[in-house]
Formats: sequence, structure tokens, C-alpha cells
Amino acid sequence: MRLLVICLGNICRSPMAEGALRHHLAASPLAGRVEVDSAGTGHWHLGEPPDHRAIACARQYGVDISGLRARQLRPEDFDNFDWLLCADGQNLRDVRRFAPAEMAHKVELLLEWSGVEAGGSVPDPYTGGPRDFDRVWQLVDSAARAAVRRLSSG
Ligand code: 4NP
Repeated sequence: MRLLVICLGNICRSPMAEGALRHHLAASPLAGRVEVDSAGTGHWHLGEPPDHRAIACARQYGVDISGLRARQLRPEDFDNFDWLLCADGQNLRDVRRFAPAEMAHKVELLLEWSGVEAGGSVPDPYTGGPRDFDRVWQLVDSAARAAVRRLSSG
């Protein structure tokens, strides 16, 4: 099973979600059986580490995301991943527009797919402050825990 988390810049929300997913999967019976990556719809931050505020936030919860590097969504991602999980509704629309028709069913909202909240979005914290990053962590951490349950139950 391979999961790709997607946001706009791939420096805040999706690397935080990638870190939370890796963290909870590694501590579960699914360890070693689920691969996780992240990407952005935008190209502005290619090759950059996550935003320092995202790194600091994840570190507070014991998760090191400093080694991740931003990349943009690629056409082959639709073949290579089982699920493409988007942070917000704009990401969902952008990724679905880019998706081959036969792959569109793989594209969902992270919070909806994991069962946290139907139609729910992880709000963009880029122009916000530490509280906004903490809110992102709470959401992606809930999604990661719920994803482990979803994937464990078949
Ligand atoms: P992300 O946050 O999509 O959660 O990584 C953003 C990062 C960068 C920009 C916007 C959102 N930006 O406009 O550069």
C-alpha cells in the first residue's frame, strides 16, 4: 500500500501529515507494509526542507520531519500510489483536474478518506502563526491514527 499526501507547497501540511503517518504506522502492526510520501501541487519550494515552523511543531510531538524535501506532483504518481490524499478542497480540485480519468477515484481529501471529517480540510497555516501549525498537527495526527485503523481493518 502506498499513500501520497498532497498540499500546495509541500513544506507545511503534507510533510507534517507524512511525518504523522510514518510515526503511527511504524508503531502499528502495519509497520513496513505502508509507504508514505508527500508532494505539492505548486512548484515554488522544490528541494526545500519543510517550513521551520512545521519542523518545530512536529518536533514538539516527537516527530522529526527535517529530512524531508519538497517536490511537485508528477504524472506517474497516479500509477505509483494507491491513494492521493489532499489537504484541502482546492488541492482536491487541482489534483483531480490533473488526474487521468481512470485514476480520479484514487484522489480524496485526507480527513475524509481517514474518517476524521467528511468534506474536511486541513487549513493552510503558511501565513499564520504557531497556533495554526498546532491546529494542523492535531488534524493530521488524528488523520494518521484513523488511517492506521482504516488500513488495519482491511
Ligand atoms: P502548504 O503551505 O501547502 O501546507 O505547504 C504553503 C506553503 C507555501 C505556500 C503556500 C502554502 N506558498 O504560497 O509559497
